[in-house]
Amino acid sequence: MSEQSELLAHARGVLEANDQGQHTIPSEGIYPHQWLWDSCFIAIGQRHYDIGRAQTEILSLLRGQWRNGMMPNIILTDIHLFGRSHDFWQSNVNPHAPDDLATSGVTQPPMLAEAVVQIGAKLSLPERRSWYRLVFPALRRYHEWLYQERDPHQEGLTLQIHPWETGMDNTPPWMVEIRRQSLPFWIRCIEVLHLIPIINIFRKQPGFVPAEEHLSTLDALVLYSIGRSLRRKAYDIHRILDNSPFAIEDLSFNCILIRANQHLQTIAKTLREPLSPELLAGMQRTEKALEQLWDPYSGQYYSRNFVSHKFLKQSTIATLLPLYAGNITKDRAKLLVNLLHNQHLFGADHPVPTLPLNSPYFKPHSYWQGPTWINMNWLIIDGLERYGFKQEADIIRAKSLELVAKHGCYEYFSPLDGSPAGANNFSWTAALTIDLLKT
Ligand code: GLC
Repeated sequence: MSEQSELLAHARGVLEANDQGQHTIPSEGIYPHQWLWDSCFIAIGQRHYDIGRAQTEILSLLRGQWRNGMMPNIILTDIHLFGRSHDFWQSNVNPHAPDDLATSGVTQPPMLAEAVVQIGAKLSLPERRSWYRLVFPALRRYHEWLYQERDPHQEGLTLQIHPWETGMDNTPPWMVEIRRQSLPFWIRCIEVLHLIPIINIFRKQPGFVPAEEHLSTLDALVLYSIGRSLRRKAYDIHRILDNSPFAIEDLSFNCILIRANQHLQTIAKTLREPLSPELLAGMQRTEKALEQLWDPYSGQYYSRNFVSHKFLKQSTIATLLPLYAGNITKDRAKLLVNLLHNQHLFGADHPVPTLPLNSPYFKPHSYWQGPTWINMNWLIIDGLERYGFKQEADIIRAKSLELVAKHGCYEYFSPLDGSPAGANNFSWTAALTIDLLKT
């Protein structure tokens, strides 16, 4: 057996072990539910060996859609773990939530249209049409919801209300902004009184991942407290934005949305289905608004605060995602490629680090604060290829596959020495490995 077919078989084995029939969990133990963008990445891998199973993965996601169009980032599949209810979210406080399912109350980067189109690419035209027809109403509704609820001033940039919505839970720009603006009083007290070591004694670690590779206790408390305050407002965007709102126009989310909008238009055209003038206008605004996130002084893109419009100037891998959005000029794309080559920034031995190597927040094994993630690499490779940076794309592809071949389907890897970290047998690493091998 060749090395390549061994790697394929290993990756497929990981997906099959995590397969629950209709959906795939990200990894056993630590992630027992179904996550939105995980399932999208997973379906992109599954389509290479079982197109029907990939379609089921997407259809099972649609079960969780709220009546207003929102796609939750989690469909809870087992809320009674270890004999205790784990339903922190209580989605039924919002009248739009499904009656028969427990879900979260926030969304995640809109990768859905990408997954639908990637599956479509494997089908004949008549089959593709039937596939698109099946998912189009839900997909269009999701994008309409994004504009109706998340772009209240029609700026073109959608806002996000929790770091979980970016999929990069403890990414520094968000954590710094939360500290600056909305750290709850009780968390400040815990900090000032140095109570973290005591809490750590009682903290139930996920067990499967060493604590220092995951969220710090303080960050976990912060994420929990924001989630709780959203629940208190019944996940109602008007109540959330009413007074002293905390919201960010996140760069990576909006880049993924731009690409998703392009895919949605392709799907609508294939079906000869209309998109409403409001939705089309919103999409056009987003394409234009991305340039507002460019900072000419540092030569990077940033997220910005929804209210003050101030940049969140902690650089992250998000600065490279306009390559995936695909609507920046070739010259601008070239500037981003220079960041990828720069050895103090993203030019690591095992690219692409989630933070520049010279960031004061950089930690090689710590979740979204440094490690290399295969899904981020996949997005960047896709963008580089479409801009014609084939050599750069090939290098990242080869180095990503090398990491997985050497260590297995880990959740993330140190960009410095490639050592694995986080959960093992992680589904999107497996799925995107298959895709990177096959395309
Ligand atoms: C973590 C990641 C998020 C992912 C989830 C399930 O919360 O930050 O991006 O969707 O785990 O894998």
